[in-house]
Amino acid sequence: MPDSAALPASDARLAGHPAGLRRTFAIISHPDAGKTTLTEKLLLFGGAIHVAGAVKARGEARRARSDWMKIEQQRGISVTTSVMHFEYGGAVFNLLDTPGHEDFSEDTYRTLTAVDSAVMVIDAAKGIEARTRKLFEICRLRDVPIITFINKLDRESKDPIELLDEVASTLALDVSPMTWPTGSGQNFKGTYDLANNRMLVFDNTDRSRIGEVIENYQIADSNFAEEVELVRAGYPAFDLESYRAGHLSPVFFGSAYNNFGVKELLDAIAAWAPPPRPQPAEPRPIEPTEPKVSGFVFKVQANMDPNHRDRIAFLRLCSGKFRRGMKLTQMGTSKTLSVNSPILFFAREREIVDEAWPGDIIGIPNHGVLRVGDTLTEGETLKITGIPNFAPEILRRVRLEDPMKSKQLRRALEDLAEEGVTQVFRRVIGGDHIVGVVGELQLDVLKTRVEAEYNVLIDLEPAPFETARWISAETKADLEAFMSANRGGMSEDRDGSPVFLARNAWELGYTAEKSPKVKFSDIRERS
Ligand code: G4P
Repeated sequence: MPDSAALPASDARLAGHPAGLRRTFAIISHPDAGKTTLTEKLLLFGGAIHVAGAVKARGEARRARSDWMKIEQQRGISVTTSVMHFEYGGAVFNLLDTPGHEDFSEDTYRTLTAVDSAVMVIDAAKGIEARTRKLFEICRLRDVPIITFINKLDRESKDPIELLDEVASTLALDVSPMTWPTGSGQNFKGTYDLANNRMLVFDNTDRSRIGEVIENYQIADSNFAEEVELVRAGYPAFDLESYRAGHLSPVFFGSAYNNFGVKELLDAIAAWAPPPRPQPAEPRPIEPTEPKVSGFVFKVQANMDPNHRDRIAFLRLCSGKFRRGMKLTQMGTSKTLSVNSPILFFAREREIVDEAWPGDIIGIPNHGVLRVGDTLTEGETLKITGIPNFAPEILRRVRLEDPMKSKQLRRALEDLAEEGVTQVFRRVIGGDHIVGVVGELQLDVLKTRVEAEYNVLIDLEPAPFETARWISAETKADLEAFMSANRGGMSEDRDGSPVFLARNAWELGYTAEKSPKVKFSDIRERS
């Protein structure tokens, strides 16, 4: 475990550069594993909030969800805190929220393309759950380094060895325990710091206190001493390079609710998590130390302020020193915009900022000009790559109430698809519009916004399809042969790329097996 006094690990490329201090990360977890609670405790350490419960209020709002749902539907917004900027231990953190629960959406996935590392929170009683696994797979696409936090040790938990083995085998990841728990639930006594021979004592009588640390701890309990030896021998030691390459995850045990193990986790992020990496782009990658500003939009939030119809585009800065009032060029359209009111997001407020650095996220208010996937630069023609669309998990057929409005409907669906709210597929036979989303709430958002902003009334009916895949083949003839043999399932996305809609997973598997020359992909780079 790193020493809390240690400065952020040096990265030769970024020595002395403010980008080197940035730690831009997200927390991935299954709902209820403790993401909100952990976020709140991290922000407490960062001094970004002063009272426990400030973030939790969101969790409570969830319980009074019907009210929020109404507001969300009326305004078509997502009420989450999207980015939290704070400082701790000499490092500057940008914690990006990955919306979960009902507001789970494609944004949740796409946010993971804007981080340099992630923390994976696992409920100690449950182990790896479905959503964690899916989010992990998305991190793996870019080899995002992951620190694991096994939470809720104050409750009856699975055996820690079983948990580690589950992480290692389910995710095909090397794991390196940094701490080791003694007991769980009623018998949870604390964790032993394997690298520094310290005991972190758990005291559940006062949750606001950081537990006592006993240095040079001599383990008296022979069973525990033996277990610690086994663990030391049985798992690889922490290796920074292997972690940063996304192959090995250091693992901490704790209890977010009790503020236990959180400081050690934050120290580890400060010391080990990577600062901004070179950003893949066409025709050349972008170095964070380049003097000119560049960045990409990974999320657009509509109407965050109910008094305005503005949108906020979230721009992840990749290079240069951003200054308020700068003119940036939108690649593709070559439009120039002056960023006069860039917003930096803190836990409870947002502020207009004068400057920002690679790794930081700024919010740019605009009237719908900026779209998900956009690259902004100071003028050089560059296209940042790796901001994909993800295959939707819920498909619906759009039924138009007034057939005279089909043109408006098409525009509305295409606009919202470009903004990244939903995806739209037009069937080859019949021309029906099928919309696809990753989370249920987006369907309500879509319906509300199409009605409010385009004045088109629609119904979203069950579609005869369950899943969608972008298809490609080595030769045009192979692709066309597939398309004509499967016309019933063929559609086009907003760019005209062919998409195969399958009735269910079985049909998808069967069709793929029968069509070895065709590649089925659940991810597509935005163009
Ligand atoms: P999420 O954002 O990942 O969905 O999870 P969240 O933090 O909201 O936590 C889900 C539930 O788990 C909450 O309980 C929270 O208090 C509890 N929890 C989080 N960390 C720990 C922990 O270390 N130990 C224990 N025992 N519980 C933990 P809830 O009943 O839904 O809310 P509340 O009534 O506690 O506020």
